[in-house]
Amino acid sequence: MALRFLTSGESHGPGLSAILDGVPAGLELDLAAVDAELRRRQGGYGRGGRMTIEKDRAQFTAGVRHGRTLGSPIAVQIANLDHRNWESIMAPFGTPPEPPQRVVTAPRPGHADLAGGAKHRFMDLRNVLERASARETAARVAVGSVARQLLGVFGVDVVGHTRSIGALQVSLRVPEDVAYDEVRARSAANDLALLDAQAYEPMVAEIESARRDGDTLGGVVEVIALGLPAGIGSHVHWDRKLDARLGHALLSIPAVKGCEIGEAFAHATRRGSQVHDEVSRDPGGRLRRRSNRAGGLEGGVTNGEPLVVRAAMKPLSTLMKPLETVDLRSGEASRAAVERSDVCAVPACGVVAEAMVAFVLADAWLEKFAGDSIEDVIASWQRYMQEVERWSRSS
Ligand SMILES: Cc1cc2nc3c(=O)[nH]c(=O)nc-3n(C[C@H](O)[C@H](O)[C@H](O)COP(=O)(O)O)c2cc1C
Repeated sequence: MALRFLTSGESHGPGLSAILDGVPAGLELDLAAVDAELRRRQGGYGRGGRMTIEKDRAQFTAGVRHGRTLGSPIAVQIANLDHRNWESIMAPFGTPPEPPQRVVTAPRPGHADLAGGAKHRFMDLRNVLERASARETAARVAVGSVARQLLGVFGVDVVGHTRSIGALQVSLRVPEDVAYDEVRARSAANDLALLDAQAYEPMVAEIESARRDGDTLGGVVEVIALGLPAGIGSHVHWDRKLDARLGHALLSIPAVKGCEIGEAFAHATRRGSQVHDEVSRDPGGRLRRRSNRAGGLEGGVTNGEPLVVRAAMKPLSTLMKPLETVDLRSGEASRAAVERSDVCAVPACGVVAEAMVAFVLADAWLEKFAGDSIEDVIASWQRYMQEVERWSRSS
């Protein structure tokens, strides 16, 4: 592993922090681009009231000088503006408020409350939910933005869009109906990150219907990485395979319960001749694929085609019409706790998924083109690109 990061922070605590280690020296960083990604994560139709309170901004406190990385660990912080409403409840020191406030004893089915409470034997489940909350993903998006900027030096771009909300799917597919390089502009044009403007109204109606019913929705997002050469990742070890690393990263996102490379689940119903991408030569004599059903990965290694991964988000577990549970204090049947919550966070999940994919790709990139400075990495990449081009033509 060339890159690693850790985040900390509770949802209503003073703020979030991340430390990102392994970024080579000399990478020019654009702070406004980091903040723009944080804003994207805050948006999306279907979010709850919390996102109107927060104005996420990244504050870099280490590892960067005059806009360039130093090769030392990068530290970034994001303040929780809502903390002012929770100061005594979430104070790192001092005594808890008397009488107790916002104690959670009725675990929400589907959230981390009960499992985390049992693990730590907490009676106040707030001790679990404050960290399990997806507020943490803001720190990941800041880290992902640095990874994205590193990849950008090499012309690698990571884009995403929403494929479905609840049972409603976007019918347009990439690249059959929408070219890879149109994805960013199309998904940025609406707050559900849809490629198809016609799908927007029915999906908004579906979210509003769930809201009225005190219910929630999930969906599927697709992330695409463009500009990757063949040869990133490894076919050699289970833990180095790029598909496995992407799966780990995507499944670590709160509420993501499934992922696929390309159309893996649909492919499992088809014959091999309908799934595998035939190899040919392009007019310049280079080896090329006629299709990209594999989603850009074979044997855990990029094959030079765009990388395509999907993540399935379950419906959120905080319901305004709560499900049945057992209250830990009384031991009696009760309704689950209600926190301020989103109805649907699929577009935001897409932004987080892009960040996690960017991180995994930047990590695998630095393994392949290792260097202490960005110039070393560029030189190593250029040398490889020349060699692989020669190999492709002569093979
Ligand atoms: C961007 C984003 C926003 C989320 N917002 C909420 C929310 O408002 N309410 C909720 O109950 N869960 C929300 N979640 C999901 C929970 O954080 C998640 O379900 C919970 O931590 C339990 O983890 P698990 O679903 O991965 O098992 C969100 C997830 C993401 C990625």
